[in-house]
Amino acid sequence: MDAEQAHDYSLRMLRNYAHTPVAAMWRQKVKANPVEVMGIQFPNPVGLAAGLDKNAECIDAFAQMGFGFIEVGTVTPRPQPGNPKPRLFRIAEKEAIINRMGFNNQGVDYLVEQVKQANYQGVLGINIGKNKDTPEEQAVNDYVTCMRKVYAHASYITVNISSPNTPGLRSFQHGEALDKLLSSLKKEQAALTTKHGRYVPIAVKIAPDLSNEELRLMATSFLKHEIDAVIATNTTLSRDAVKGLPHAEEAGGLSGAVLFDASTRVVRDLAGYLENKIPIIAAGGVDSYAAARAKLAAGASLVQVYTGFIYHGPKLISDIVNRL
Ligand SMILES: Cc1cc2nc3c(=O)[nH]c(=O)nc-3n(C[C@H](O)[C@H](O)[C@H](O)COP(=O)(O)O)c2cc1C
Repeated sequence: MDAEQAHDYSLRMLRNYAHTPVAAMWRQKVKANPVEVMGIQFPNPVGLAAGLDKNAECIDAFAQMGFGFIEVGTVTPRPQPGNPKPRLFRIAEKEAIINRMGFNNQGVDYLVEQVKQANYQGVLGINIGKNKDTPEEQAVNDYVTCMRKVYAHASYITVNISSPNTPGLRSFQHGEALDKLLSSLKKEQAALTTKHGRYVPIAVKIAPDLSNEELRLMATSFLKHEIDAVIATNTTLSRDAVKGLPHAEEAGGLSGAVLFDASTRVVRDLAGYLENKIPIIAAGGVDSYAAARAKLAAGASLVQVYTGFIYHGPKLISDIVNRL
């Protein structure tokens, strides 16, 4: 089956059957393995990464699988269709995925409605981005708009500045653009904390394709602005690990086991630069207990899975959590 068709079909099934006996197919109990990160209590350190449930339509079903936390989005202020199809490719030989979805989503108002309708009481991250047609000089407004709308409904908010599929987005990882974005968001967070009487942490999600010097500079900025967590990493532009395989030359971001080394390197180096002052949530090639363990050993406090979950299913969650 076409990869995106399979994705849509599976999400529809999870959504439609989460509250029926069919959910026994994926429901599982996992061991309690509580951790506190960003001032939040997590029942276990294994989360669902952003981009799988972009519109927050399947939160209850994912909760039934035993995830310690769920991150929905990336969501943008206005609905947008994303890039033309096909835009999602599996490289099964390497348990990898290339995607250039381009933030296809139904917009922030729809997402908030879905979150309100869910029964889920656990830890929910909401990942926010900018619309493709918002000019770069107004991008900060898109993040602020999303932040205001999701604030009351999120356990933490992730600022996605690392998707390779929205032109210009990754420029916010550097220099003045990063500084301006972070200072606007922290200002907004302070105002919203007063308004809602609750502090919602901000995590920043970064790319794996960053030099040590770039990471060092980013860490300085995260420390200066007192960012609450860093998610490392998004997908990579590199194709070294899949060279010659079918679909390897498709444009977009590569994920899965082939991303493990690069993203773990980022976790390790960043952990050094952040001096244990800001926690790291690791994503990138977590497809086993050993991989999760290695991320934690490299300095992460939590892990997220996407591609490993596509290839291994819900069993991956219990395999990891029950052994930690
Ligand atoms: C099809 C697909 C769509 C994704 N969409 C998003 C997204 O909307 N926002 C985001 O922050 N990350 C997105 N990601 C990146 C994942 O959240 C994760 O950071 C990355 O895939 C590395 O983890 P993995 O190797 O376990 O997949 C997407 C990944 C895939 C494969």
